[in-house]
Amino acid sequence: MRVLFAAFEIYPYVKTGGLGDVAAALPPALKEQGVDVRFFLPGVPELLEVLGDRETVVEFPVYFGAKARILKGTLPTGLIAYILDAPDFYHRKGLYVDAQGLDWPDNHLRFAAFCRAAADLQDFVSWKPDIIHGNDWHCGLIPAYLLTKSAPQPASVLTIHNIAYQGLFPTHVQHQIGLPAFLYHMEGAEFYGKVGYLKAGLAFADRITTVSPTYAREIQQGEQGCGLDGFLRTRSARICGILNGIDTDIWNPESDQDIERNYDAQNLEKREANKTALLKLFNIPSQKDKPLFAVVSRLNLQKGFDLLLDALPALLDQGANFILLGSGDRDLEEGFIALADDYPGQVGIKIGYDEALSHKIQAGADAIVMPSRSEPCGLVQMYAMRYGALPLVRNTGGLADTVEDGVIGFVFEEEDAEELSKAMMRAMATYKNKKLWREMQKEAMRQSFTWNDSARRYKELYEELTGKEEEDEDRLSRLA
Ligand code: ADP
Ligand code: GLC
Repeated sequence: MRVLFAAFEIYPYVKTGGLGDVAAALPPALKEQGVDVRFFLPGVPELLEVLGDRETVVEFPVYFGAKARILKGTLPTGLIAYILDAPDFYHRKGLYVDAQGLDWPDNHLRFAAFCRAAADLQDFVSWKPDIIHGNDWHCGLIPAYLLTKSAPQPASVLTIHNIAYQGLFPTHVQHQIGLPAFLYHMEGAEFYGKVGYLKAGLAFADRITTVSPTYAREIQQGEQGCGLDGFLRTRSARICGILNGIDTDIWNPESDQDIERNYDAQNLEKREANKTALLKLFNIPSQKDKPLFAVVSRLNLQKGFDLLLDALPALLDQGANFILLGSGDRDLEEGFIALADDYPGQVGIKIGYDEALSHKIQAGADAIVMPSRSEPCGLVQMYAMRYGALPLVRNTGGLADTVEDGVIGFVFEEEDAEELSKAMMRAMATYKNKKLWREMQKEAMRQSFTWNDSARRYKELYEELTGKEEEDEDRLSRLA
């Protein structure tokens, strides 16, 4: 079984969120299941630097307006990667957006080129994939481009990590990216008069997966589908949710080099040193009896941080401490900075991205707050549980699938600051009961979120797809 795994992010070289973590961890887990998996990745400088045994597969003098070549090489993990090296497209500070936070004006070309090259790779190499597994809208055009080629083609899988990001571009773009008319219509790549890269993937992929079973249902049911729910319902039989795992080597409190003191569930008292060090880092006087709530996240409305800003003052007035590491929407960043000014010595805010600090927070905080309006899976709550920080989350998507209220964390229902506030007060009351809190920590640390089970599920899905003749007929009839 040969699988080309295409992703636009991969930790630790290119990462803006959980997609990078998943792309780094799932393919090695698939390899362990016996899948012959290779990567397809964008040629960002950080990746090119680590690529070993590099060779050029093919060069294009002009490719979607840029000079490009496909390289083959080995990543430090030992897995083989094909890389689309197009410096004009991918050597930029900012993967998706510029310094002002605006989409790069040529994003339609940057991502179309990536998809076209992934779909065409088989023409240049002897290693022919049975499946091309793409991720998010960045890879949405791969299944469409496969249909422009002559048979037989690999089957395609598209994983949705976040349906709110759809890659929508003006209609005239279809000509620039070579999208033929037979693929550009309501049942295909067209979405309310625009070219929808994710929509193309959802229309033409043989299988659609998403990163938790609950999110798989939610996106077919109204608002959470971000306008695609009706369309997805027509494709329901091809959709499934497979919960992400986490990399338990990188996220391991017993061996984590970024934290003050290593510990495990049997010696949780050692964890205290991490809390003390963390509070010091944020200039908060150490108060062991006060619960420390924390956030590590991209800051936006989808993650519900406006609700948290409303809910926090009441909690802080009760004496809790709060720290945040994150960046994103300016209004939210400013809101949290203002909160720190209002509560000196009680609130610490770090605007930015800092991988090592994120580990320190998981090891030192008492509770990690994720008030998401929508959360396809969420990795941060799983890291939290592994580190004995109790997650406080809204009952949605992967949060609903991983956190059990009162057992390993705290769950609230409605998208509402009042509800969130009540859950935080509940956590505060629980924190006073040291024995109960400790039991919950231990139970949280006992949860298993390894990649093995998920990788097995993906492998089964690939196997279902490899006898794919009937699928081809079905697909052709859909196009007719
Ligand atoms: P999403 O992918 O929606 O951002 P996830 O919970 O799946 O949410 O994954 C977020 C990933 O990004 C985690 O690895 C988390 O630790 C990391 N992360 C988010 N914000 C920051 C930050 N400011 N600094 C360091 N790591 C961060
Ligand atoms: C997305 C989602 C997040 C998920 C991650 C990895 O960024 O927002 O919930 O955990 O992808 O699948």
